[in-house]
Amino acid sequence: MNMSLNTDTIAPHGGHLINRIATAKEKEEFLAQANFLPRLQLDERATSDLIMIAIGGFSPLKGFMTQADYESVVDDMRLANGLPWSVPITLSVSEEVAAPLQEGSWIRLDDSDGNFIGVLELNEKYRYNKVHEAVNVYRTDEDKHPGVKVVYEQGAINLAGPVWLLERESHPLFPAYQIDPAASRAMFREKGWKTVVGFQTRNPIHRAHEYIIKCALEIVDGLFLHPLVGATKSDDIPADVRMRCYEIMLENYFPQDRVILAINPSAMRYAGPREAIFHALIRKNYGCTHFIVGRDHAGVGDYYGTYDAQYIFDQFKPEELGIVPLKFEHAFYCTRTDQMATSKTSPSTKEERIHLSGTKVREMLRRGELPPPQFSRPKVAAELARAMQIES
Ligand code: ADX
Repeated sequence: MNMSLNTDTIAPHGGHLINRIATAKEKEEFLAQANFLPRLQLDERATSDLIMIAIGGFSPLKGFMTQADYESVVDDMRLANGLPWSVPITLSVSEEVAAPLQEGSWIRLDDSDGNFIGVLELNEKYRYNKVHEAVNVYRTDEDKHPGVKVVYEQGAINLAGPVWLLERESHPLFPAYQIDPAASRAMFREKGWKTVVGFQTRNPIHRAHEYIIKCALEIVDGLFLHPLVGATKSDDIPADVRMRCYEIMLENYFPQDRVILAINPSAMRYAGPREAIFHALIRKNYGCTHFIVGRDHAGVGDYYGTYDAQYIFDQFKPEELGIVPLKFEHAFYCTRTDQMATSKTSPSTKEERIHLSGTKVREMLRRGELPPPQFSRPKVAAELARAMQIES
């Protein structure tokens, strides 16, 4: 019997896919208590973290991190049990909010509209050092860094303990693309994909993305195109616009049966190298065996070296991470060879390379100019221009 047809090629991080979605019985119990429990309102990031924990995207986490896990992650990029983990997943509140909350009690978690969405079993409250977190996780203490800014603005006390999500609701904008880890794993099995490459992106898809994805597709069975749709910084292109660009790209320029497009509900941290590890572990939980790390992955401004997010993988034994990073050099359009390339494949001079920064492209679009076809597929560029002009 061929077991591989029934078994996932890659185990979730820590060995088991976590499911913290309340059962019907638990939900009933929580609803009965809803008006008697202390309430906490979650911001967008904490809400998406709750969802990611519940659906197993953050396996093996079952809740917001305890002090032991938090400190171990910040200092050593490992959970207290030694398993690699690079980014703190914490629920921070002010001292005033934390003071009346009793350790050992249940806390009702509401979203930013006041809807009851989950429960925290509060096991621990602890103080933490924000600058230490910033320097270790983000490699800077500057509040101009969007990830550091969030840390500095959040409350001084972390609340820790296991969580339950009351119900897994459909995404209001992209229900068809809400494919949670158990479902993506089932789809990969069904398709018979033994090797799947995960692609993280928070930007409109351009030809350098397409190039590195297609290089990867030459060597694996399928692509899990997994754009992040959680909180991003305000000048990033909104998720609905990006999703239309991914759809256009797939419809026109990819073989349909080799790609699954799905949303990643989590929030961007902009933690560069540390976030690349985090992004890889998330995709491992979704069932990917490989993960693309290109230039300045999850970076912002000049905080990280172009390939720091690749070098950080060397700090772990391959089997500890389990998922294989596919590392790509800076890709560009080469006018000498008339194709996408990197310095590994093209002898071009600087003048023969066409690449644009995201900021430059956004400026062009706001002026009503289309980025050149060497940078962006024309149909994608047209959609972007349409959306950006309506916005501005
Ligand atoms: S990210 O913040 O999600 O990393 P982005 O959507 O721009 O941002 O990038 C998605 C992935 O493509 C990342 O792995 C990034 O390193 C890679 N990438 C983006 N542009 C290029 C490029 N020109 N050359 C090589 N890799 C790239």
